[in-house]
Amino acid sequence: MKQINHTISYRVFEHEAELSEVDISLFKSAKSAMAKAYAPYSKFSVGAAALLEDGTVVLGSNQENIAYPSGLCAERTALFAAGSNYPGIKVVKLAIVANGDLLPKTAVLSPCGACRQVMAETTNRQQVPFEIMLLNPDGTVMVFDGIQDLLPFVFGS
Ligand code: THU
Repeated sequence: MKQINHTISYRVFEHEAELSEVDISLFKSAKSAMAKAYAPYSKFSVGAAALLEDGTVVLGSNQENIAYPSGLCAERTALFAAGSNYPGIKVVKLAIVANGDLLPKTAVLSPCGACRQVMAETTNRQQVPFEIMLLNPDGTVMVFDGIQDLLPFVFGS
């Protein structure tokens, strides 16, 4: 038997204002996406903005359904929209924001497992990692260089 320690890394910013102009603008886009969420059941609105390598920004928000599993998270809405409308153009960054009482103030706005799996597929498809940026309920920002830091041992790895 051997003990193996697996390290993940990410950067933490105390406030959005510490980010680059590009990142601040991407979070602004994610907030505009969040305003279009359809979340009458959870009352938890999520917005995602994907920056593509050609500068295009693709937005997604959570879209719920009275038959709960038929709804879709913001991250997958954005990544599927990017894959559908801009195939072959790589995702460079994905910014995620949310608003609602579902998460305590101390929580991390951590993407769900299914969204992580889709982020992994996008990465695999484009063969280059993309940055994942989370705006937490307490206002701090976490930046991951790629899905490998959010989903170690992804299926197929
Ligand atoms: N949600 C997202 O949009 N992204 C996530 O990563 C987790 C959860 C949505 C799904 C549902 O509409 C609401 O947030 C509450 O779970």
